[in-house]
Amino acid sequence: MGKDVIIACDFPGKEQTMSFLDNFKDEKPFVKIGMELFYAEGPAIVREIKSRGHKIFLDLKLHDIPNTVKRAMSVLSSLDADIVNLHAGGAIPMMEAAIEGLTRPDGTRPLLIAVTMLTSTDQQTMERDLLINSPIENTVLHYALNAKKAGLDGVVCSPLEAGKVHENCGTDFLTVTPGVRFADGEKGDQKRVMTPEQAKKIGSDYIVVGRPITAAADPVEAYRRCVREFVDNA
Ligand code: C5P
Repeated sequence: MGKDVIIACDFPGKEQTMSFLDNFKDEKPFVKIGMELFYAEGPAIVREIKSRGHKIFLDLKLHDIPNTVKRAMSVLSSLDADIVNLHAGGAIPMMEAAIEGLTRPDGTRPLLIAVTMLTSTDQQTMERDLLINSPIENTVLHYALNAKKAGLDGVVCSPLEAGKVHENCGTDFLTVTPGVRFADGEKGDQKRVMTPEQAKKIGSDYIVVGRPITAAADPVEAYRRCVREFVDNA
């Protein structure tokens, strides 16, 4: 599995998304479609971006009873996304059902990755609201191991956790990491960040980059810089 840069297309609608993608004439970046865009535009936005030649990470974070997730995953699989995800908090039976639903009659399926603990949840929130008392790092690793047991391909995690996840779950288990910023860039609301180069060193397989590219004066150059720092000169 090669390393790649995924652009988080956090736009409110199709028009803004397409005019952003129109900037790219020579390359077809991997694109992340999240809930906002998907709920606004429906499955057609996935088909349209796919038909322009982009790979797609459909970031919808499913979490429901196994049967419902299985059936929903089968619909997402037919959209031909390249990566889809769910919450590991739905537990192993839900994750196993997700794989079943995703698998097409010919045996192929999109990659399936899990969100472990949301990065918006800290130790205190986890203990107070979720009644989980073990250290958050252990919880993240335990959820990652559950995802592996269920047959998933990897997890979304902070680049700071990528090394530990690989140590515990194997180097083939994918780490998809948001929270990436250029060394000389704005952090915005992200607190624990890494540069593309640091994310590469620590072993991230994919970095998910939003505003450092989407809000850049020259998004194509910002994308190329990410690729140079994260993918090239490996
Ligand atoms: O603009 P920025 O680079 O911060 O965008 C990062 C993307 O990754 C956003 O789509 C955000 O929702 C997503 N993400 C994140 N942290 C997580 C999980 C997802 O930033 N833990």
